[in-house]
Amino acid sequence: MTSVSELYEARVRAGALEGDPAQRGVLPALDRVTAGLAAAPAAANGGWLGRFFGTPAPAAERARGLYLWGGVGRGKSMLMDLVMEAAPLREKRRVHFHAFMQEIQAGLNEARRAGAQDAVRPVAERVAAEARLLCFDEMQITDIADAMIVGRLFQILFEKGVTVVTTSNRVPEDLYKNGLNRELFLPFIALIRERMEVVELASPRDHRQDRLHGGQVWFTPLGADAERAMDRLWADLTDCAETPPLELEVHGRRLSLGAVCERVARASFWELCGRPLGPADFLAVAEAVDVLLIDAIPRLSAANFNEARRFVTLIDALYEAKVRLIASAADRPASLYVEGEGAFEFERTASRLMEMQAADWGR
Ligand SMILES: Nc1ncnc2c1ncn2[C@@H]1O[C@H](COP(=O)(O)OP(=O)(O)OP(=O)(O)O)[C@@H](O)[C@H]1O
Ligand SMILES: [Mg+2]
Repeated sequence: MTSVSELYEARVRAGALEGDPAQRGVLPALDRVTAGLAAAPAAANGGWLGRFFGTPAPAAERARGLYLWGGVGRGKSMLMDLVMEAAPLREKRRVHFHAFMQEIQAGLNEARRAGAQDAVRPVAERVAAEARLLCFDEMQITDIADAMIVGRLFQILFEKGVTVVTTSNRVPEDLYKNGLNRELFLPFIALIRERMEVVELASPRDHRQDRLHGGQVWFTPLGADAERAMDRLWADLTDCAETPPLELEVHGRRLSLGAVCERVARASFWELCGRPLGPADFLAVAEAVDVLLIDAIPRLSAANFNEARRFVTLIDALYEAKVRLIASAADRPASLYVEGEGAFEFERTASRLMEMQAADWGR
């Protein structure tokens, strides 16, 4: 079995990664996860060993999960990919936390319709039956519906012997900070501390910043010049006789947006973020296009908290799907939202917006 450390050092030798002492500092914790998975075979999930001996592996023998947190661009997602690669089993799954919670909420609705008393259990058990290692990238809890079920969900996953690895920009104690009914959420934090090793990736390097170069795709300030530049790129990228609105169906609702030509779409900031669209809508947009042009991103303040939050969700979805982004905006990314609730989360968005401007960004 190749350990995460070995994979990391091989990438450094090959020149794909630069050795980063802080990243090296967390490699032993990642190695413990994959070694734990190798040491606790299917028994932990009631596999043949467990069935043969009639007892599941004791909790202490099961691989402990890992909660890796730290600032933007430090390499958390990259390290999680290495864990996925090194994990010596087939039943492993990596999923963006937003997308996963969407799936869970849909499963809960279905279970409730079917009359389940405890809807979380069958949904969690189904997830656990399919994966012994679950990697959640970017755990962030902003939604009360998610906050209220995530504790029970994880409890059942742990009970079933699933090893959970998550990345986050926040220390567990800051999850769902200032959220509604937060006291109901606190047992989840205790559960994380009990069942997962909590490790900070405190690198001074933002590797995302280091990758910057490339043709201009961010036009600021707003005005006639920016508009002309956007029109020119739109014309360069599209060659359709007509550009109808992008039509999507999300959970049975129709969503119509801006204009589209093949897999290139264009919409204004207000069309995307000025109405009550959510993660499912933005994931659908990200799936439908390779390039998205966003016109007229304004400077946001506490008064536009909702628009700013939607914008964060939109950029997360575009980033995850590696969509190329071209935008006109009132300012550079880091200056778009500097005060107000969620300004902390916005730092990651700004960092991503910078990375998405790199010439080699995109699929
Ligand atoms: N040691 C390294 N050498 C070179 N590139 C790196 C290194 N570590 C990370 N990167 C690259 O830097 C970028 C940012 O890394 P990554 O996405 O893993 O950060 P992150 O901590 O997950 O950030 P965020 O909190 O915004 O999700 C990625 O393109 C990644 O491949
Ligand atoms: Mg990440």
